[in-house]
Amino acid sequence: MKKTMTILVTGGAGYIGSHTCVELLEAGFNVVVVDNLFNSKHEAIRRVEQITHQEISFYELDILDKHGLDRVFRSHEIDAVIHFAGLKAVGESCLQPARYYQNNVNGTLVLLEAMHDAGVKKLVFSSSATVYGDPQSVPIREDFPLSATNPYGRTKLMIEDILRDFSTADQLANTPNPWKIALLRYFNPIGSHVSGLIGEDPRDIPNNLMPYVLQVAVGKLSQLSIFGDDYPTHDGTGVRDYIHVVDLAKGHLKALAALNKDFYAEGACRPFNLGTGNGYSVLDMVNTFQQVIGKPVNYKIAPRRSGDIAVCYADPAYAEHALDWRAEKSLADMIVDAWRWQESNPLGYDS
Ligand code: NAD
Ligand code: UD1
Repeated sequence: MKKTMTILVTGGAGYIGSHTCVELLEAGFNVVVVDNLFNSKHEAIRRVEQITHQEISFYELDILDKHGLDRVFRSHEIDAVIHFAGLKAVGESCLQPARYYQNNVNGTLVLLEAMHDAGVKKLVFSSSATVYGDPQSVPIREDFPLSATNPYGRTKLMIEDILRDFSTADQLANTPNPWKIALLRYFNPIGSHVSGLIGEDPRDIPNNLMPYVLQVAVGKLSQLSIFGDDYPTHDGTGVRDYIHVVDLAKGHLKALAALNKDFYAEGACRPFNLGTGNGYSVLDMVNTFQQVIGKPVNYKIAPRRSGDIAVCYADPAYAEHALDWRAEKSLADMIVDAWRWQESNPLGYDS
């Protein structure tokens, strides 16, 4: 009988992690989650179990705790790891760089050591489109030059470099069990599971556009500031590639499957863009929200936000071809699903 695969998900109580846990459980995987709950609540795990009618083995643990991780690897026969755990606020990373390097870079090194010690060398890593810096052209392909404009982005670049080095070393040494690594470069995930039971639950005032729009529409915040209307775009506001978080979550299952394919047979570390290939401006988002939900979004035009770029959207062709994955949900789906979560959980998981 075929053994059920067991996946360790770091950061599995977070926004993208919880959605990925749903997809994994529904596809028949066993799921083990390690999360220190710094930016999430245990309630998210409970809701994933409610949606799927299955159980998660949950450990409240910091990935910097090597002994703790060793215990988890000893307690479960882990086949592969999906690594979401990390800090992600760009502004905060500029003020507290040490914390970001310690948590994201050192945390990943500790995880890699624990994986190596346990002989688990299949990894799917949460990278970001931020590694392309300010791209010279769009759509962005995986072979475009990489750069970072802030410490958060630099942690993603550093981790990508570390993972490439680990993989190269195994290939040079002809290691029998070489690292097989997928670097998933996410564009802008928004939306929620269709149940409305799980979603993005920012701790403070949101930094990102969609949670801010939701909180203005629900009356928690009074006005959206649109950061700049003088970009070289069709209406002057910034253009991004918004992707439904469930499509993104499904991309992780396709990446796991790819790690077992021939093109990973000798070990490799490959990047994949997870985006839709469509760009929408801030005003497109606000207008679509108002049309689809029928609620006004009070906004004003404000100065540009430092560090922002004009346009960013993916060329998803390589992920489509190599992973057999494609984003399927429309912008209206993303907005309707995001709103369902916001409306039924006005205080997030504390509702
Ligand atoms: P999130 O904050 O909701 O989830 C991250 C989870 O990791 C949280 O539950 C947090 O408690 C946990 N965590 C953080 N540090 C930890 C540590 N040291 N030990 C154990 N757990 C720890 O964020 P998310 O939006 O779900 O993002 C997941 C990953 O994807 C992150 O690495 C993020 O940088 C990356 N990413 C996110 C986006 C986005 O727009 N959300 C875009 C690109 C990349
Ligand atoms: C931001 C981060 C990026 C990170 C990503 C996901 C910055 C500079 N970049 O990307 O590194 O990977 O989040 O976490 O922080 N906007 C407004 N008003 C708002 C909020 C946003 O007009 O209140 C605009 C922005 O200027 C941008 C667009 O909306 O044009 C999307 O912004 P956001 O959701 O923050 O994502 P990114 O800036 O793409």
